[in-house]
Amino acid sequence: MKAIVVTNETAGTAGMTLAERPEPQATTNDVLVQVHASGFTPGELTWPGTWTDRLGRDRTPSIPGHEVAGIVTALGYGTRGLSVGQRVFGLADWTRDGTLAEYVSVEARNLAPLPSDIDFTVGASLPISGLTAWQGLFVHGRIQAGQSVLVHGSAGGVGSMVTQLAREAGAYVIGTGRAADRQTALDFGAHEFVNLDNDSLEDVGGVDLVFDVIGGDIGKRSAGLVRTGGMLVTIAGPPEVQPAEGLAVDFVVEADREQLGEIVQRVRDGRLRTNIGQIASLDHAVAAFNPTERIKGKTIIRVRT
Ligand SMILES: NC(=O)c1ccc[n+]([C@@H]2O[C@H](COP(=O)([O-])OP(=O)(O)OC[C@H]3O[C@@H](n4cnc5c(N)ncnc54)[C@H](OP(=O)(O)O)[C@@H]3O)[C@@H](O)[C@H]2O)c1
Repeated sequence: MKAIVVTNETAGTAGMTLAERPEPQATTNDVLVQVHASGFTPGELTWPGTWTDRLGRDRTPSIPGHEVAGIVTALGYGTRGLSVGQRVFGLADWTRDGTLAEYVSVEARNLAPLPSDIDFTVGASLPISGLTAWQGLFVHGRIQAGQSVLVHGSAGGVGSMVTQLAREAGAYVIGTGRAADRQTALDFGAHEFVNLDNDSLEDVGGVDLVFDVIGGDIGKRSAGLVRTGGMLVTIAGPPEVQPAEGLAVDFVVEADREQLGEIVQRVRDGRLRTNIGQIASLDHAVAAFNPTERIKGKTIIRVRT
């Protein structure tokens, strides 16, 4: 089968190549998925699981991409809950070959049914950003109606989902990002926008929840904005500064079939809009992941037309 492979950790997306790889087998509890669309997250080439298996053994050449939408073509031994021919979407394992390929083998529990009225490209754009936003807001952040949320990178893949879900949950949403992202963030539902290049973050005052996707200096300064009893939720690694009278949580997104169902239902009924910036074929994936100009939103690879 055709797949995008990486062999060199320091090369980043420039080290991606299109190659022929053996088709994977569906092992115990897996389904084999014929990939129709695949999603890739900035930063995954720095994650250890891209390069080694769970025991830390080199597993290169590896196939990146952890988001998938496609059709089940085979069931592994003992697999339950999904059937051959079913449309599915979800999250592939961090330490196995991923979804930038014509086929991927995934544990069935990490996938959910994809309704027939949702395009595969949309399905592939939802798992990481949707689940991360859902888990950060509702599982870790325990957001309540009436609370205020500062959403960093609110025009990006994760931030745009956080903005919409927080707004739907009745929160007051302050988005952040670059100057050019203001209108996008407001269109996704932010009540206000802070331009991180020019505005003073400190002028935001206190908020109940900070959702940080950027980290570094922005993460450090954000800790001081968390009100007493509030929370700093981050996906940018362990926070370097803790809120003085609040909690900090950093987490890695997990697959969850029920939450995928909640997310896709919101897309179907118009409460949630995905944030796709460009769609490219597998043959053009390497160029798409090495753009010559800034792409806003996620890059999705349409593997099968
Ligand atoms: N822990 C987890 O479970 C988890 C899950 C999902 C994602 N992540 C990580 O979270 C990060 C965000 O993912 P994503 O898919 O949302 O990425 P994304 O689509 O690139 O969104 C990030 C947004 O933040 C903006 N931004 C970044 N640095 C900024 C700065 N210094 N000032 C102003 N704006 C800035 C980006 O603008 P530009 O495009 O102009 O830089 C972009 O709009 C990635 O590093 C990803 O690897 C972690």
